[in-house]
Amino acid sequence: MASHPVFSNSKFSDSTVLAEVAKIRKVADVPRPATAAGKAAWAMAWTHLVVWNSWRAAYFYADKVPTGDFEAFHQYATRSIQFLVEHHDAEESSLFPELEKKIPGSMAKNEEQHKAFLGPLGDMLKYVESSTAEKFDAATFRGQMDAILPAVMEHLAEELDTIEAGKLSDKLSEEEITALNTALHMAQRGDDNKFALPFVVQSLPPGCGFPPAPGFVKTVIGPWMLYWKYASLWKYTAYPWKASLEPVPDF
Ligand SMILES: [Fe+2]
Ligand SMILES: [Fe+2]
Repeated sequence: MASHPVFSNSKFSDSTVLAEVAKIRKVADVPRPATAAGKAAWAMAWTHLVVWNSWRAAYFYADKVPTGDFEAFHQYATRSIQFLVEHHDAEESSLFPELEKKIPGSMAKNEEQHKAFLGPLGDMLKYVESSTAEKFDAATFRGQMDAILPAVMEHLAEELDTIEAGKLSDKLSEEEITALNTALHMAQRGDDNKFALPFVVQSLPPGCGFPPAPGFVKTVIGPWMLYWKYASLWKYTAYPWKASLEPVPDF
């Protein structure tokens, strides 16, 4: 478990939070489902683990930034929080409205949960975005993250139940679900592949099944071609291709 002192008094070690993470891992850590209905929750679970691991890394490194490197940490932490904000925007613009049409009421709790931490999430993003090396205070940042982590992780676990394969395939055809999966992926992807792929891959354990890209994309194109534009940020990821700092304790 999280024995590292950085995490010992943090919500990252809270047993309820860890139980939510275990629920998410259970959905993610299986072979990629064959059906579109199965892929929906599976891909969502991996995306949620990107949030967990990138937040964990930003939290861990907040007071371990090497002298002169604040700008790189600042960008990494900002992007980690933006990742969740953009994920929720993508769900609210593409996935939820379509599912509500087919399964009325099914997304109400998800929308409520998004709203519940929208304010503090926005405040945390603003705090990090506007920080400078002089102004940034690791304890303040960690306090903000600890304050919303339980609600965020509860949502990230419970949302998976709302898009469970059987519930989707009861009311939607495989083609409709494929279209929804693609729409969510496109809404979330952004247009900066030199950021998105290295960020996602380095936020998940090496060798895991997500993203479902050919091996050479993850092991050759990612580390050798897409790496460089944001090279200074990647040392702060949970699973860096080229490690140069104390590793983020895994738990
Ligand atoms: Fe989600
Ligand atoms: Fe969500």
